[in-house]
Amino acid sequence: MSHGRMAVVALLLVAAISAMSPYLGSSRGMRDGQVEIYSWWTGPGEEDGLHAMVGDFEARNRGVHVVSAAVSGGAGSNAKAILASRLLAGDPPDSYQRHAGLELADDVRSGKVADLTALYAEQGWTSVLPRGLLDHLTIGGKLYAVPVNIHRANLIWYRPATLRSLGIAGPPRSWNEFLQQAATIRAKGLTPLTVGPEWTQKHLLETVLLGELGSDGYEELWGGGTPWRRPAARAVLDTYRQVLAQSDVTSSAADWQPQLDRVTSGSAVYAVMGDWAYSYLAISRKLAWNKDFAVAASPGTDGVFDFLSDSFTLPTGARHPDLARRWLVECGSVAGQDLFNPLKGSIPARIDVDPNRYTGYLAWDLGQWRDPHTRIVGSLTHGVVADNGWNAEIDTALELLLRDGDTARFAQTVASAYEDTR
Ligand code: GAL
Repeated sequence: MSHGRMAVVALLLVAAISAMSPYLGSSRGMRDGQVEIYSWWTGPGEEDGLHAMVGDFEARNRGVHVVSAAVSGGAGSNAKAILASRLLAGDPPDSYQRHAGLELADDVRSGKVADLTALYAEQGWTSVLPRGLLDHLTIGGKLYAVPVNIHRANLIWYRPATLRSLGIAGPPRSWNEFLQQAATIRAKGLTPLTVGPEWTQKHLLETVLLGELGSDGYEELWGGGTPWRRPAARAVLDTYRQVLAQSDVTSSAADWQPQLDRVTSGSAVYAVMGDWAYSYLAISRKLAWNKDFAVAASPGTDGVFDFLSDSFTLPTGARHPDLARRWLVECGSVAGQDLFNPLKGSIPARIDVDPNRYTGYLAWDLGQWRDPHTRIVGSLTHGVVADNGWNAEIDTALELLLRDGDTARFAQTVASAYEDTR
């Protein structure tokens, strides 16, 4: 869907949601003691962690009730557009979800979020959060959002039984190996790779860039236009097109959960997705990790952790700033993070939590995140490395690339968009 159409759909959605409820889509009908928390965590694999944290918050703050203004759509694909129109209309929720990184920096620059440095000092958060993460939440020496978690984006999901039936020894360790496996898979009538809506295709692009260019090459892409003009970038984009040609892109799934369903049902072999998929598969669908489904670093990214972090803000002009601050205290607390993350399929942002609460995939994930040999890079699709202006230009260019396959134009547009949005 084009951006113009998405904006119209978003506005229609705001109108529809506001009409349906005095609370959702507007903070105007809120009663005393209510605090409006805005996220895109609805549905299986997304909302359980939020509900657990909300329950704890309400128990600790008697008489306070959370109104969850959650708008469905993976990666905030609908929520972000609706939020933008609310912020523009001067109608912010009391706290909204943002990714740590340049996505948040835009809000800071435009004065949409309040400075939380004093709250950080009061809660002692600077000594219990990793330095690198704090850097992504700090602008001009001040802190602007409270992180609840760390997610990993560069993962490939599969079903061991499917690989066994195809005689494939293990998930591909490079995109080249994936393309070789794809020929075998297609010969047996299965889909090598399943994708969902456009944001999942961008998520895939990010992991192909990372796997093919390596961490240094990947990081260079976010620092300027020049790397996009190099032959290496063009070559990776060609690989991306070949990878996508082995997918169900022409009949892609409605969102990331049905995308994963195609893997677990055995009709498709692989899906690239972040580790929110773990909570969906293991908790919502009650499938067994390493038996009914398994996961590995996406091709070419062993030892690399492509991270993102969900954080909550205090918008300027929030109607209940004191309650919002209490919500942020919950988000930043050991109790809140330990309730939220095991259900969300993420690991805590804090470094002082009890690691024993993180089992199965999450224990492996936590080990990788904390391993000093792991190289950490930031996600494109989930707000870390590119600001909203550039990201929107990348989305439009990607839409065209997916339509006509012109990789040269994509690289050129992304490079100029970087320069134009400075
Ligand atoms: C990400 C978000 C995750 C998860 C995912 C799928 O952007 O950070 O927490 O919700 O989208 O919706």
